[in-house]
Amino acid sequence: MDSAMIEVRELVKDYGRTRALRGIDFSVPRGQIVGFLGPNGAGKTTTMKIITGYLEATSGQALVRGLPVEEHPLETRAHIGYLPENAPLYEDMMVQEFLDFVADIRQIPAAQRRQRFRLMTEVCGIGDVLSKNIGELSKGFRQRVGLAHAMIHDPEILILDEPTSGLDPNQIAEIRKLIRELGREKTLILSTHILPEVQATCDRVIIISDGKLVADDTVQGLMTGDGARIQVLVAPRGESPLEMEKVVESLQKPDSVRSVSVVGEKEDGLAVDVLSDAAVDARRDIFEAAIAADLALLEMQRQSVSLEETFRRLTMEDGGEHV
Ligand SMILES: Nc1ncnc2c1ncn2[C@@H]1O[C@H](COP(=O)(O)OP(=O)(O)OP(=O)(O)O)[C@@H](O)[C@H]1O
Ligand SMILES: [Mg+2]
Repeated sequence: MDSAMIEVRELVKDYGRTRALRGIDFSVPRGQIVGFLGPNGAGKTTTMKIITGYLEATSGQALVRGLPVEEHPLETRAHIGYLPENAPLYEDMMVQEFLDFVADIRQIPAAQRRQRFRLMTEVCGIGDVLSKNIGELSKGFRQRVGLAHAMIHDPEILILDEPTSGLDPNQIAEIRKLIRELGREKTLILSTHILPEVQATCDRVIIISDGKLVADDTVQGLMTGDGARIQVLVAPRGESPLEMEKVVESLQKPDSVRSVSVVGEKEDGLAVDVLSDAAVDARRDIFEAAIAADLALLEMQRQSVSLEETFRRLTMEDGGEHV
C-alpha cells in the first residue's frame, strides 16, 4: 500500500476558547523519521494526541494507514506505539509487572513475549530496575520504561513526544542510535527541543508555531533554504591599503552574490561575510572577483545556516504577530 502511514488534514483544535491548532496538514510516508519542532505551546503534543486517538479534533481529521482515527480508534492504535509527554505509568506496579500488564492489553502471544521482553530490556536499558516499583524510579528510568511500553508490541508507527527528555547523555546517544535503527523499517514522528537531535536522526522536519505549520522540509533544505554564507578574509595584493567600500563593491559584482558585509578588521586582512543563494556555490565567482579587483583571498569558508537560526527566524516572526 503506498498511501501515507500518517496523514492529518486541516486539523483544528480548540481547548475552550484557546485555539491550539489552526489548520495543520501533513502526511508521512512509510519509513520516514520526522522531527516535529516548535516552541512551547505550539501544539505538538496536541497534534500527537489527536493522531494517537487520545484527543478528538474540533475539525479536520487524522488518518493512520488511510483509516480515520476517530472512527477506528482500536484498529489505528494497534499500529501505533506512543510515548506521551508525561508517561502515565502505574506508580504501584513493579516494572516487570507493568510490562506484563501492557503485553496483556496489547495481546502479545505468549510465544513471543519472552523475546519481546528481552529485547525491550536490552534496548531501553531497564534490566536493573525490573523489580523496582515505578513510583521509585528516577525521571530518566521512568522515560525508559515509557519507551519500552511504547515499543513492546513492535508497532509499525512510533509517535514519541520528547523521547530523550530526562535522559543522561549516554542514554540520549543510545536512544538516538535506536531511533535511527528503527527508522529503517518503521515510521516515526518525534518531538524534541534538542535541535542537534533532529540533525542527527531525522529525514524530515516539520515546524509548527502557534498552531500553524511554518516549515516542512528536509534538514538540509531548512538549513540552506535561507541562503549560504561564505566567510572571506581579504588582503591587498600590492602596497596600497584596502578600501572597505571598494572591497564590498568588487565582491558584490557576481550574479551569484546576494549581499556583502564587512564583519571585522583583522591584523592580516578584512573579514567579510558574503551571502549567496543556497542553490549555488559562489566561491569560484568570489575568487574571480577578488583577482579582478587586485585582492588576495587569505581564507574562504562556506557555511550553511544552522537549523537553530532557521528555527528562531520561523518561529519568532510568526509568534510576534500574535503577542
Ligand atoms: N488540556 C488543555 N486545556 C487547555 N489548554 C490546553 C490543554 N492542553 C494544551 N493546551 C494549550 O494548547 C496549546 C498547545 O499546547 P501543546 O501542549 O500541544 O504544545 P506543545 O507544542 O506540545 O508545547 P511544549 O513544547 O511545551 O510541550 C497551548 O496554548 C496550551 O496551553
Ligand atoms: Mg508538548
